[in-house]
Amino acid sequence: MVSLTTNFKALAFSASIFMVFVFFPFINKPISLQTNFIHLATPPLSQQPNDATNISHLVFGLVGSTKAWRYRKSYTESWWRPNVTRGYLYLDTPPTQDLLPWSQKSPPFRISDDNTKLLEETKHVAPIMVRMVHAVIEVFREEHENVRWYIMGDDDSVFFVDNMVDVLSKYDHTKYIYIGGHSECITSNQAFSYDMGFGGAGLIMSYPLAKMVQKNIEDCFRRYPYLTSADHILMTCVNDFGVSVTSHQGLHQV
Ligand SMILES: *[C@@H]1O[C@H](CO)[C@@H](O)[C@H](O)[C@H]1NC(C)=O
Ligand SMILES: *[C@@H]1O[C@H](CO)[C@@H](O)[C@H](O)[C@H]1NC(C)=O
Repeated sequence: MVSLTTNFKALAFSASIFMVFVFFPFINKPISLQTNFIHLATPPLSQQPNDATNISHLVFGLVGSTKAWRYRKSYTESWWRPNVTRGYLYLDTPPTQDLLPWSQKSPPFRISDDNTKLLEETKHVAPIMVRMVHAVIEVFREEHENVRWYIMGDDDSVFFVDNMVDVLSKYDHTKYIYIGGHSECITSNQAFSYDMGFGGAGLIMSYPLAKMVQKNIEDCFRRYPYLTSADHILMTCVNDFGVSVTSHQGLHQV
């Protein structure tokens, strides 16, 4: 009986394949079908030899504040590799004298764009959150050559960079991918969404997705001026493009 069911399933499956192959050519022949076949003929970039994802393909956008940096920089300097890891720390105001000269062990800093006009126009309720998400535009503007992944983090996020390279190399960076971690706090997942990447754990976007986000994020601020957290804004905007989170177990918010 079991084998009969199995055979029947196998038969049904091959029948459906047969139907696809036999009947598909008669359905309106979409152009994209041909493109797909061409695409399949060349393996995706990541599977070609000598083109594995390495540390140089990752760009970090870290958002912090000048006031807190002196207490937080040791978190970042614990994992940041000067002249190896790519990216920037975005500060709200120019660094104060005690932070200068800027530590070589810290990521290079930038001052966040002035969003005053955007805030006036959108009447967004959470200016600091707008600044955090706006950093996607700013980091993309500076670093977009040979980038596969953008990782947005906080000034006290701790990343295990080699592990990230390993994990990210398994995903296809040429697709629209948004990777994040659930919250460790169940209530937060319920309040926000189980489909949200929570900040702190790092919000990871493939190059094509980040490109689309930076182009459209200001419209998202206009559409959702009432959202009060950066990770929620990002999720909502990414979802609007039809991309949902790839939840990666092991990304922790700690
Ligand atoms: C990373 O890979 C690129 C090729 O995509 C290569 O040119 C570069 O030298 C590699 N960098 C490191 C640090 O291995
Ligand atoms: C990083 O590179 C700059 C010049 O490109 C150099 O001045 C600096 O010493 C380097 N830092 C480290 C820690 O290697």
